[in-house]
Amino acid sequence: MPRTLFPRQSLRPWARYWGMEPCSAQPDTGPDSDRAVTPLMDAPIARQVFVCTAKACAANGSEATLEAFRAQLIEKGLLFYKGNRAGSVSCVHCGSIGFCQIGPAVMVYGPEGGAWYAHVGVDRVAEIIEKHVVGGEVVEDLVRKRIGQPGG
Ligand code: FES
Repeated sequence: MPRTLFPRQSLRPWARYWGMEPCSAQPDTGPDSDRAVTPLMDAPIARQVFVCTAKACAANGSEATLEAFRAQLIEKGLLFYKGNRAGSVSCVHCGSIGFCQIGPAVMVYGPEGGAWYAHVGVDRVAEIIEKHVVGGEVVEDLVRKRIGQPGG
């Protein structure tokens, strides 16, 4: 039997995070029926934060970085999650993006494009939230890769 790339079991914690019951995949009957089971589709998301929690970044403390982002975004009323469907920022973990030697790696993506940050410890989270997530201004000394921006 072929190995599944993303085993269903691995989705269950995230289904709980989004306030959804794990279930079998919905048949594709169009955006309206998808919307009924996907609150994110109507959420006022302005920016997304991705924190790499793959092996090398995790060894450098990225789980704590992720938790710091979530806690501070919740404190500011910005995080979109089951406790705040009006939140304008999603914050999730992701797999390795190739910054393994310079992690923890964090991406902030918004209307201005995206910026991948390196060496993001808990001590830099508040600054990234204030300057980039809220203000739309890249934190220059930490950015190592831009996507969809001048200089990328
Ligand atoms: S482990 Fe995080 S970028 Fe590779």
